[in-house]
Amino acid sequence: MRANLIAGLDIGTTKTSAVIGEISGDPRRGTLNILGVGQARTSGVRGDVVTNIDEMTESIRTSLKEAELMAGASVDRVFAGIGGEHIRASSSMGVVAVADEEISHDDVDRVHVVARAVALPPDREMLHAIPQEYVVDHRRGIKDPVGMTGTRLESDVYLVTCASIAAANIRRAVNRAGYRVQELVLDPLAGARSILTEDEKEVGVAMVEIGGSTMSVAAYFEGKIRHVAILPFGGTTLTQDLVRGLSVPYAEAVRAKERFATAYAQLVDPRETVELPGPSPNQQRHVARELIAHIVEQRLDEMFGLVERELQEQDLLNRLGAGIVVTGGTAALPGIVELAQQIFAAPVRLGRPGEGLSGLADSVARPKFATATGLALWGADRFAETGEGASTLTSGVLTKLGTWIKEFF
Ligand SMILES: Nc1ncnc2c1ncn2[C@@H]1O[C@H](COP(=O)(O)OP(=O)(O)OP(=O)(O)O)[C@@H](O)[C@H]1O
Ligand SMILES: [Mg+2]
Repeated sequence: MRANLIAGLDIGTTKTSAVIGEISGDPRRGTLNILGVGQARTSGVRGDVVTNIDEMTESIRTSLKEAELMAGASVDRVFAGIGGEHIRASSSMGVVAVADEEISHDDVDRVHVVARAVALPPDREMLHAIPQEYVVDHRRGIKDPVGMTGTRLESDVYLVTCASIAAANIRRAVNRAGYRVQELVLDPLAGARSILTEDEKEVGVAMVEIGGSTMSVAAYFEGKIRHVAILPFGGTTLTQDLVRGLSVPYAEAVRAKERFATAYAQLVDPRETVELPGPSPNQQRHVARELIAHIVEQRLDEMFGLVERELQEQDLLNRLGAGIVVTGGTAALPGIVELAQQIFAAPVRLGRPGEGLSGLADSVARPKFATATGLALWGADRFAETGEGASTLTSGVLTKLGTWIKEFF
């Protein structure tokens, strides 16, 4: 029987994906043995608004069942992602007097409680309170203050909140699908977990994840998260431009984008044409591949421009020694790295999950699985810290039955 199974569930706006892994070896080293991956089209979500909870439930069930089938084991709980324009992030400072001369774990716990004790309106929920650094008697930049001598301990904490309703919808849909949410994790933090290295975060790096309806940014510097943003543009925006620019139906535009588009028009041979459906049934017409590339490049240029502005406003643009890492489903477009390089005038690489993974790691080594894999890795980290968050076969059966009974009555 498999033990210590961890599941990540990414409910994206276009697809829902699930990744199941087993903690292998020493949990503190945090390698995850990938056992299964599942994917389903997301239904019942428009933009970041849930329009039909039953359809959303079905997408969750389908993707998790597929991952379980591949893994040959079932799970009862998931680390689920949450994103959308309702996310807010800010820094908060907490201060306490040190109890004895030497700073203890208790002092650190207390300063966290103080820093995260901000008044939240009833329609907001706290997702993360991430300690950034400590200040001991006005000395800044301390990573671990335990054991140091001082009288005043301050903690800088990065707080992330979400709309309660969005969190409640995810929990409800996951419960109905027969699972339980172990923890909700902000999408870009999960994505960053699977594709950014500790070195990059130290030197300064921004992850730009371009999905279906959203583009998430997570910027790190000196090993700390400095900024997250979720912007309402993505691959769907490109598709809509192709619908207009090529006068084709939506489904054809998706097909043309995924088969023929390039993000950097310079890379396309101007003489090359592709066949698209014509104005009436059974008719074909030739379209220059360069035209498709131009439409896509123009919009991506604008989208990267928004990211650049966002980073500039946060005074981070000059601090990204490791540059930009592009990921998400839309990062499958050829030429996207070249385009980003030109816009940001910085090193750019494509982000694919791989580090810290073993087993069927190949099956998640694509930009579109950055978030789902990151959620599973986040779960593995949590398990290493607390010993909690893993499913086992027996408890799986029991909890699922429990959830089902609760839902039924
Ligand atoms: N080969 C490809 N070329 C171009 N675009 C692609 C390709 N494969 C997928 N996409 C696009 O990627 C987008 C989906 O990306 P992803 O799976 O990361 O999104 P999501 O998680 O469902 O959405 P979001 O994160 O915005 O909620 C879609 O717009 C899809 O058309
Ligand atoms: Mg996504």
